[in-house]
Amino acid sequence: MEQTILFVIDKPIRKNLLTKIFKNHGDPSQLIFTNNAESGIKIVKKNNVKAIFVGEQLPDMDGYEFINKIKKINPVPVILVFEEHNETKVSEAIKKGALDCVIRNTRSFYAYPFVLDRAIARYELEIERSERENIISESQKLWVAVIDGIKDYIFIIDDESKIFRANKALSDIFNKHPKDLIGISLSGLFGDDNAKILIKIGFDGVPKTEEKTILGQQYLVSAFPFKYKDRDFTIYVMKNISEMQRLKEQLYNSYKLASLGLLISGIAHEINNPIAGIITYAELLKMKTQDDKITGGLQKILNGAERCKHIIENLLTFSRQKTPSRTLESVNDIIDRTIELRSYWLKKYNIEIVKKYHEIPYTLVDPQQFQLVILNILLNAEQAIIDSGVEKGSVLFETIFDDNNNKIIINISDNGHGIPQNIISKIFDPFFTTKPVGTGTGLGLSIAHGIITEHGGLIKVESKKDEGTTFIIELPYEKHSRENVRIIT
Ligand SMILES: Nc1ncnc2c1ncn2[C@@H]1O[C@H](COP(=O)(O)OP(=O)(O)OP(=O)(O)O)[C@@H](O)[C@H]1O
Ligand SMILES: [Mg+2]
Repeated sequence: MEQTILFVIDKPIRKNLLTKIFKNHGDPSQLIFTNNAESGIKIVKKNNVKAIFVGEQLPDMDGYEFINKIKKINPVPVILVFEEHNETKVSEAIKKGALDCVIRNTRSFYAYPFVLDRAIARYELEIERSERENIISESQKLWVAVIDGIKDYIFIIDDESKIFRANKALSDIFNKHPKDLIGISLSGLFGDDNAKILIKIGFDGVPKTEEKTILGQQYLVSAFPFKYKDRDFTIYVMKNISEMQRLKEQLYNSYKLASLGLLISGIAHEINNPIAGIITYAELLKMKTQDDKITGGLQKILNGAERCKHIIENLLTFSRQKTPSRTLESVNDIIDRTIELRSYWLKKYNIEIVKKYHEIPYTLVDPQQFQLVILNILLNAEQAIIDSGVEKGSVLFETIFDDNNNKIIINISDNGHGIPQNIISKIFDPFFTTKPVGTGTGLGLSIAHGIITEHGGLIKVESKKDEGTTFIIELPYEKHSRENVRIIT
């Protein structure tokens, strides 16, 4: 469609002269003239308008209102036509959206094509600039979306160690918007000590990655220095590796336990035979002598050897590699039978047993092994109660069936002396004991842990010093499928 230059002006204008001037200038556009805004708008809608010259005041609206309306329909360059020159009006017109201004008199008409060329050039530049800005703002939005999508903490600090940018993962831990972190110093955000650790990593201006403990968690912290607008910045990426570390330790521990188990079972088997020999011969000799002194000595040998035998039995249970042979059992019944075994001692030490049994479906467990778990926990509870000197000791056995998660939960709580925080992470370690030399072997809980793990369950402890301890066992509830049940005859 032929290009049009539109004149919207209700003052006399020399149409033929203007048409000739544009032709002479080499502009092939057709010139259309109208004297009011409404029809001007209609023309813009219908024609391929290249530019508009508009009077300052039209009968139906002023020139600026017209400019605004045109912008919404078809943004084309608009030049304002004044009756006379006025600097203030010109700058006001530019501010309000006109690309240039001309004066309505014959001499100026000759300048119109040049003004138009300049306005179009300016207009194209304007479009290019806004497109570029658009691209920048889009890429800024993308950058923010990407950085906020990453769940590691990412932030940039400036050369004064103040936050320059931060991602959402980081601002979330402070319950803030990323923008609210800008300008906060590293010490203000993480505390002095942590800030020092972070600054040290990025200090010497080379990219570095180190493992650090910050805000009580373990992080892999990477610092990448860079320059921006002649200033030094450092971008930090902090990856929380606490969980990974925990799994690594767990794996290492089970590896350590497995190899320790192998070693122990070898030694225990070796010692078993000589001990059996010592016991047999000491008993034989005891029968043959009447001398009290010798009998006394032999009894001491027997006591010592029996204790060794007991320790070896424990070691063998601990190192046993065999899988449990499970039968359908009532957990409540097994607990009852275990308590029964200790009834004499419980009475003797005035320890009350409280039972809070819920209905538990029969499940697949190895009854001997499970009894050993309960026994070891009960023995520890008794000991903790006796050592604490409480007037009325009590051990609570609570069983719960969590059918949403298919779990059987057993809580065993005592009101003994509790476990100090600094040793609580060690109590399941083999040979860890606080009992005097010659009494505990430190194997009770590691045996319990091994058995429950083999059953696919888990065992946890919660304890408060001087208040008591609770062991929590979670056993998976195994549905009664025939092929799961190994019938023991
Ligand atoms: N109920 C409890 N109250 C307070 N401390 C406990 C309790 N249960 C365990 N402990 C602590 O955990 C340690 C380890 O327990 P574990 O049963 O493994 O070994 P032990 O009782 O010392 O020796 P063993 O059971 O081989 O005779 C105990 O020495 C004790 O310090
Ligand atoms: Mg024990």
